[in-house]
Amino acid sequence: MNEVILKMVEIGKSYPGVRALDHVDFEAKKGEVHALMGENGAGKSTLMKVLNGVITDYEGEIFIKGKKVNICSPTSAQNAGVSIIFQEFNLVNTLSVAENIFLGRLYGTKAGLISWVDIFNNTKELLKKVGLDIDPKTKVKDLSVAEKQMVEIAKALSYNSEIIVMDEPSATLTKNELDNLFKIIFDLKSNGVTVIYISHRLEEIFEICDSITILRDGRSIKTCSVKEIDREGIIEGMVGRSMEEGEYPERPTVKLNEVIMEVNNLNRKNVLKDISFRLHKGEILGLAGLVGAGRTELVRAIFGADKIDSGEIKIKGKKVKIKNPIDAKRNGMALLTEDRKQQGLVLKFSIKSNISITKLKKICKKGLLSKDMESKAAAIYVDKLLIKTPSSKQKALNLSGGNQQKVVIGKWLFADSEILFLDEPTRGIDVGAKYEIYCIMNELIKEGKSIIMISSEMPEVIAMSDRIIVMHEGQIKGEISKDCASPEKIMEYAICTPENS
Ligand SMILES: Nc1ncnc2c1ncn2[C@@H]1O[C@H](COP(=O)(O)OP(=O)(O)OP(=O)(O)O)[C@@H](O)[C@H]1O
Ligand SMILES: [Mg+2]
Repeated sequence: MNEVILKMVEIGKSYPGVRALDHVDFEAKKGEVHALMGENGAGKSTLMKVLNGVITDYEGEIFIKGKKVNICSPTSAQNAGVSIIFQEFNLVNTLSVAENIFLGRLYGTKAGLISWVDIFNNTKELLKKVGLDIDPKTKVKDLSVAEKQMVEIAKALSYNSEIIVMDEPSATLTKNELDNLFKIIFDLKSNGVTVIYISHRLEEIFEICDSITILRDGRSIKTCSVKEIDREGIIEGMVGRSMEEGEYPERPTVKLNEVIMEVNNLNRKNVLKDISFRLHKGEILGLAGLVGAGRTELVRAIFGADKIDSGEIKIKGKKVKIKNPIDAKRNGMALLTEDRKQQGLVLKFSIKSNISITKLKKICKKGLLSKDMESKAAAIYVDKLLIKTPSSKQKALNLSGGNQQKVVIGKWLFADSEILFLDEPTRGIDVGAKYEIYCIMNELIKEGKSIIMISSEMPEVIAMSDRIIVMHEGQIKGEISKDCASPEKIMEYAICTPENS
């Protein structure tokens, strides 16, 4: 396993106002899983886009198996034996799963016709490998985020590459899919494939990675074996200081007196079954469960994004009709969606327009939009959320994945909502910024706002929730108070063991 398969030397890349990569050296060995770590905006995705021919105007040299390669397009990267699972999904929504996987490689029969039978069979085979039980003809737009991620993985596998880059593949997956992904990674490794693995979940690094490289502000800070570094060491390398305050801020004890929202007997055919619960003023209610348990569906239904078949919602004791997200907003609700790219951001708009869009009234002077007020408002959130950008005029499209997520959060904070639904709020966010987001959640609670937080990260649910409800197959299976919360207790309800079903 000692053969160096990939060597990137003195890689540099600049964007207007940003030196994204500055003389970065990166080396990976054959058959190893190599972690690439760093804060949001550190340059991880940029470095991997260079390796995969997506960025072509870079400085520096790339060697594969000791031979200098000229990677100047995604095809040349594939020819050099490299493929990538992108952080931002790269699938065409209107095409089927099979068409997406074999896009640009739709091979034909001798008669020059496309051989759909072969393509569907090969797709089935690949889907089986990643444990996805869907019809290859399914349109990508009908898939959940986790399923899209698995299709991305299947697509990368289909190239039979020697080096596979996985840019935050785990962010959208929970337990089962993750276990499956790790199995795939071990298989690849035993076949001598090198995996470059990007993730903000530190525990994964210790579970599957052999070596690690840490980037900070576009520079390589450290490369070593995972055995030689601990959690604190990684955090210190990433943020440039030790996090003495720990990973979660202290939470004040909250008195759960006043009910702000009541959901009674909510039903949505085949998705939600007779859901009833209460949310208190000043409470963080954790919504736990496995992917597919119906958590996202529940908040979408309450928010009016999906139609409900029956049930009632009361706010401050009064029955309200929420037919669409506009009604929800009018009733003081905000939804931070899981799928930020599809639903959270207008990518072509600047950071400041994305933030102010939720409440234009707040930046109007005498009925006219004030650019000045808009910039000032945006500056507050860029600062508060540590959004890494040369200016708030930057298009959302040009931000790193984690920084896009922060803009979505800023946007909903700006709207001054009373009830916030946060669907995986810290997905893809680095440890330092996560801490900031938890502090902001605490502040919101202090102001008397209420939060429903969906999270698949157990430690996060446990550390941040005042109460936890656990869903399984569209139903609430249990409620756990802060004092009794443990990963075992949550899992017990989430997988619905016979004792309590
Ligand atoms: N197309 C672009 N135009 C301008 N700046 C860009 C562009 N793409 C990336 N950047 C900037 O380059 C820097 C590195 O971004 P990159 O996406 O590599 O970060 P990352 O380490 O992958 O972060 P994350 O963990 O948030 O995904 C960031 O400051 C980002 O804003
Ligand atoms: Mg990235």
